[in-house]
Amino acid sequence: MKILMVTSEAVPYAKTGGLADMVSALSICLAKLGHDVRIVIPRYYSIDRSNFKLLPDAMGTPMGEGVEEWSAVYETDMPGTDKKNPVKVYFIDHEIFFGRDGIYGNPTETDFIDNSRRFIFFCRASFQLCRKLEWYPDVLHAHDWPAAVAPVYLKFAERLPGIKSKFSNTVSLLTIHNLGYQGIYHKDNFDYAGLGWDVFYNAGFEDWSMLNMLKAGLYSADKINTVSPNYAEETKTNEHGFRLDGVLRYRNADYCGILNGIDTTVWNPSKDTYIPENYSVKNLEGKAKAKEALQKEFGLPRDPNVPVIGIVTRLTDQKGVGELFGPTYGSVWSICRDMDLQMVLLGSGEQWCESEIAGLSSRLSNFKAKIGYSEKISHLIEAGSDFFLMPSRYEPCGLNQMYSLVYGTLPIVRSTGGLVDTVENFNEKTGEGTGFMFDLLDPSSIYNTVGWAVWAWYNRREDIEKMRIRGMTQDFSWEKSAEKYIELYKATQKAQGIK
Ligand code: ADP
Ligand code: GLC
Repeated sequence: MKILMVTSEAVPYAKTGGLADMVSALSICLAKLGHDVRIVIPRYYSIDRSNFKLLPDAMGTPMGEGVEEWSAVYETDMPGTDKKNPVKVYFIDHEIFFGRDGIYGNPTETDFIDNSRRFIFFCRASFQLCRKLEWYPDVLHAHDWPAAVAPVYLKFAERLPGIKSKFSNTVSLLTIHNLGYQGIYHKDNFDYAGLGWDVFYNAGFEDWSMLNMLKAGLYSADKINTVSPNYAEETKTNEHGFRLDGVLRYRNADYCGILNGIDTTVWNPSKDTYIPENYSVKNLEGKAKAKEALQKEFGLPRDPNVPVIGIVTRLTDQKGVGELFGPTYGSVWSICRDMDLQMVLLGSGEQWCESEIAGLSSRLSNFKAKIGYSEKISHLIEAGSDFFLMPSRYEPCGLNQMYSLVYGTLPIVRSTGGLVDTVENFNEKTGEGTGFMFDLLDPSSIYNTVGWAVWAWYNRREDIEKMRIRGMTQDFSWEKSAEKYIELYKATQKAQGIK
């Protein structure tokens, strides 16, 4: 199959979260299965293009308001793919839209004022790219709100019924990675899309007189999915639907959840190059070394007997940071004050949270934090911690808890979204489970559940060791999920009467 991934993030080029990991790992896996997979992504200023191939001739993309946008196109093979069937990556290089620091915003302008135009243009440019390459996909697979208008262009401009076009046999799938971000902007920006105002209403852009890019994609894509079965169910409810639950219930027959995998070439304790010594279920000595290195890295006393709780996260409301670090009510203060444990954090995000964390680490001797982004330290935390704390308000899938499990680190998580599909709660009677779970998101539930895990550490060590092994032997590799995507692509073709 010929598959075009339309995305605003992909590792190793641009990443703010798990979306970037997912798109690249899925693409690499699909290519391994023999499919022709190509990724199109904006060329942000931070992406070094010096080793890419510049394709001949600038590419024109006709937009509304009589504008024609000109961009350069760069091409490269994704590292880590088979040379015989590489994943090809195409970068749309448009100076005005993408020649600036930041993907969606920067510290002074957190959401760029022209984001709707930047990403509407990007979606339309994806079709021009296919024309330029004379390569027309069987499946256009769009990810999240920045790519959500691509399925709209397919349905309302490129694949019109009764009109023969190069895209007549293309079907679309839109994957929701995070319903909390929808791309809502002033509707005056819609003229720029060049689609006509009937499409504003028919394609579902209209949202209380605003322009909602994700909503239009959810109405217009041939099929939609999200990144775990449990989150697919949750998003159809008022509590988790971010006002789009009605749309998702309306599209229920075309909507499903497919659990993300993890890239086991990168996240694998027996191959990891960031940790002091590799380890596996057969020999856990390397994990003890990683714990020692982690304690050293964070300036904590090197003590194998005290449990270490790790956190790696974007510091944003989705991740439960209010309940952890909120001034006066956050639970981390009392957890670290009352319990015999060490806690380490790596993260960046909201300003208030970064400064609360700095304050806490100066007042607590057993809580240490690094504000920033670091692949190396995130690997060290996964390997060296005994527990991994993730009290998410909502979690479409979550990758960190899966990384933790395969590194023998027990997740302490809220039972929500993909966390329910991947973690199994500790059963004190049987000693079974892979982690510790709680339902309600409030500081005292976090306090009590961390307390439960710490109790088990000091009183049920055999159970803890068994749980580690159970976690480490789970199969979270992409192969299974990639097969499910292929089935979904085929079902989409069938539903559209193609093939
Ligand atoms: P989300 O995409 O909602 O942030 P996921 O758990 O799916 O949540 O993915 C988060 C990804 O981002 C993981 O690969 C995690 O290791 C990484 N990550 C988040 N914050 C940092 C950080 N400060 N440094 C390094 N990696 C980070
Ligand atoms: C989003 C979600 C996260 C998911 C990731 C990859 O960022 O917040 O739960 O794992 O996308 O699909």
